[in-house]
Amino acid sequence: MKDFTAKVAVITGGASGVGRSLAFALGRRGAKIVIGDVDAAAMELVSADLAAEGIAATVSHCDVTDIESLNALAATAQSVFGGVHLVFANAGIGAGEAGAIWDYPEKDWQWCFNVNIWGVINSIRAFMPVLIAQGEPAHFVVTGSGNGGLVIYPDQPIYTASKAAVHTITENLHYQVQAGGLPIKVSALFPGPHVVDTGLFNSGRVRPESLKTGVDGNATGINSVDDMKKMAAEYGIEMQTTHPDEVAEMALQGLETDAFWLLKTTPETDAMIQARTEMIMSRTTPTTERSGF
Ligand SMILES: NC(=O)c1ccc[n+]([C@@H]2O[C@H](COP(=O)([O-])OP(=O)(O)OC[C@H]3O[C@@H](n4cnc5c(N)ncnc54)[C@H](O)[C@@H]3O)[C@@H](O)[C@H]2O)c1
Repeated sequence: MKDFTAKVAVITGGASGVGRSLAFALGRRGAKIVIGDVDAAAMELVSADLAAEGIAATVSHCDVTDIESLNALAATAQSVFGGVHLVFANAGIGAGEAGAIWDYPEKDWQWCFNVNIWGVINSIRAFMPVLIAQGEPAHFVVTGSGNGGLVIYPDQPIYTASKAAVHTITENLHYQVQAGGLPIKVSALFPGPHVVDTGLFNSGRVRPESLKTGVDGNATGINSVDDMKKMAAEYGIEMQTTHPDEVAEMALQGLETDAFWLLKTTPETDAMIQARTEMIMSRTTPTTERSGF
């Protein structure tokens, strides 16, 4: 999609981080923005900030774990702006897991899979029929993660598993849309190349009451990118981060050429992807060292 002017872009999880940056980047290119999120305070803020820039936007409560909530968001986009041209299935959480995989509370798995996997499935089920019925060029973008989508970080299995599923679903969606000859493009967005400075590490702020485990914050004790930086500094490492605005720019540049992979890497992350592929091809038993961690 070369021109975003007057296009309607729906962004789940658009009140914070990558989604918020996408909203501004698209709005500044003339798109009309529909945000669905569950964080009331952040929604109020993004709504006011978009209005202050003169960007046409509507911000609605939408819980991606609930298909009816996404159907309602689709209806809002259609009634307020008359259609949908871009969908960003972006909402996601980090479960903040720590310790052994066999000890994680079931509620951590449920929360993460509900938002990260079912959120994407529900977004596809709610919006694909709308895009197909419109019959116009459209773009469906799913936010995955290199952690799970491309390589397997050894210490965050819940999040990693969720993003492995997300990538599989995204690539399948792409194949099916292609096979169906639909005027819709699909892209896989991998925020990065470094850890993106967003609210992901403080996801507990939007954790539903019913899935709380009694742990205050993340089991890791790391509740922000600043916490991560401090921990890295204790090991003498200066941790690099990426601003979410950079992710949004990378994404939109990719969308302008209909790229499937919205992926910016570093030589280090490329080496990890290559090492994993080579381990599979040569049937080498994985070790964290061989994987580049
Ligand atoms: N931050 C990173 O380094 C990084 C790296 C790779 C992938 N990602 C992915 O980027 C996406 C955006 O996350 P972010 O990093 O901007 O974090 P963020 O916490 O800043 O933003 C996520 C947004 O999703 C919303 N959300 C959470 N649960 C929801 C629900 N049930 N329904 C609707 N909205 C919900 C939150 O309120 C928040 O506004 C996620 O899918 C995340 O997994 C982030």
